[in-house]
Amino acid sequence: MKIGIVGTGHMGSGLGKLWAAKGHEVFWGSRDPEKAKRLARSVPANADGGTVAQAFAFGDVVLLATPWSAATYALKSAGPLAEKIIIDCTNPLKPDTIFELEIGHTTSAAEEIAKSVPRARVVKAFNTIFAEVIHSSPLFGSQKANVFYCGDEKQAKDTVARLIRDIGFEPVDAGPLKNARYLEPLAELVIQLGRGSVGMGPDFAINVVRR
Ligand SMILES: NC(=O)c1ccc[n+]([C@@H]2O[C@H](COP(=O)([O-])OP(=O)(O)OC[C@H]3O[C@@H](n4cnc5c(N)ncnc54)[C@H](OP(=O)(O)O)[C@@H]3O)[C@@H](O)[C@H]2O)c1
Repeated sequence: MKIGIVGTGHMGSGLGKLWAAKGHEVFWGSRDPEKAKRLARSVPANADGGTVAQAFAFGDVVLLATPWSAATYALKSAGPLAEKIIIDCTNPLKPDTIFELEIGHTTSAAEEIAKSVPRARVVKAFNTIFAEVIHSSPLFGSQKANVFYCGDEKQAKDTVARLIRDIGFEPVDAGPLKNARYLEPLAELVIQLGRGSVGMGPDFAINVVRR
């Protein structure tokens, strides 16, 4: 699958490397195209880099891995997005602190992104997993870390579930895109546990156990 990735930071680099290693074609888009090219050269195969607009054009699936505050701005550089799947891993953190969300309960980052690109198919995913887990391993003993995803279009969700499974995580269907209103506060809990005074650090995942 052709995957464009907007953002070369912790999330974008980690997920792109894993997908490229599994044979997907990855194209990183950056505000600094040289930086994206350097990142692509650090990967053995299946990767290239350039501008943000090129990443949007390249991908059948495009991962949006920028700060929330930059996401809608980045989307403005996108050309036509009809039928493209946008994976939104952002969390709407306040600009000056990771310990508070800017919006929630009545809307979500994912819904606001979907409103700004009405012809694309937006799926929320990966927002509750620390980048450190992505860069190390999806496995905790024999258990796979769960990746919650939500969206309104079955085919787009199935594609994202496959991409989650391809890199060793366990996809958990969290329902319609509206449920991003609850996945984003869940991510804030993860941040509080990992980076706040509780002091768990980033090497954990929130998993569902069922009978
Ligand atoms: N880190 C985590 O553990 C984690 C976990 C789950 C979700 N998230 C969410 O995933 C998103 C990306 O997180 P991250 O940790 O990968 O962030 P990061 O390391 O800071 O990387 C974000 C990337 O976004 C790009 N960018 C575009 N416009 C930007 C702007 N105006 N200001 C700063 N960067 C801009 C930059 O790439 P270029 O310089 O190449 O343009 C930058 O490298 C965020 O919304 C975050 O809340 C993060």
